[in-house]
Amino acid sequence: MDHAKFSAIGHGQMRYWNPIHADVFQQWIDSLKLTASSSALDVGCGRAELLKLIANRFGCACLGVDSSAAATEMASEIVPVDLRCTPFQAGDFDAGKFDLIACIGSTHAVGDLETTLQVLGQLLAPDGEMWLGIGYWQRPPEPGYLDFLQCDASEMMDHAGNLQSFDQAGWRVVGHHLTTAAEWSEYEDGYAQNLYRYIAAHPEDADTAAIKKRIDGWRRAYLQWGHHTMGFGVYRLQQKLQF
Ligand SMILES: C[S@@+](CC[C@H](N)C(=O)[O-])C[C@H]1O[C@@H](n2cnc3c(N)ncnc32)[C@H](O)[C@@H]1O
Repeated sequence: MDHAKFSAIGHGQMRYWNPIHADVFQQWIDSLKLTASSSALDVGCGRAELLKLIANRFGCACLGVDSSAAATEMASEIVPVDLRCTPFQAGDFDAGKFDLIACIGSTHAVGDLETTLQVLGQLLAPDGEMWLGIGYWQRPPEPGYLDFLQCDASEMMDHAGNLQSFDQAGWRVVGHHLTTAAEWSEYEDGYAQNLYRYIAAHPEDADTAAIKKRIDGWRRAYLQWGHHTMGFGVYRLQQKLQF
């Protein structure tokens, strides 16, 4: 079953396809100093809610890239934004062009953390800002959780490890927010509910059995381990000045 389909059903009508509360992004947008001649890019933009708010507030050029047709179709219903439904390719964009780059829950579209910082850093204007949303371990993951995720603990760091990576790659953290327990619950409970509602309403869908198997497993793992083990942080980053 197509992951993009599963994700689009799970996220349903959620404005953001990540667990961070909308108020956090609104506050961050309110603090931006963009103008009508600024440019913003969102890599893996989902429904492009962030860009919609930025475009409406500042009237600047906003470009969203997402490989999921389901996401960009939902986005195009609502946003005054240039949307591209395609896998992200850094070479499609001019170096140093963007005053704001967002990549929230989408770094896999670019590469690992180090690559993402380097590649997106090249597209950012010298005094621009990057908003990066990435996972971290809230506590060392249990073997059963790693088995479920089919990943190695070294594939993700804790929050302190993320901060160290930013620093070593030449970035300053100018703001951040770590998902709260309440945000996780609201997001994951809503995500599962959307999928279970879909399953009940669409018995004719050939993917229904696969969708059920997948959300059953995800839900069990989230409740047993994920809620207190998986973290998600959004970081506002600026490149350090070179002297
Ligand atoms: C977890 S969602 C986050 C969406 C959005 N940033 C948000 O926070 O609302 C990850 C998004 O990345 C997109 N994506 C995954 N691989 C991609 C790629 N190679 N190029 C562009 N988008 C990609 C997915 O389609 C999905 O919409």
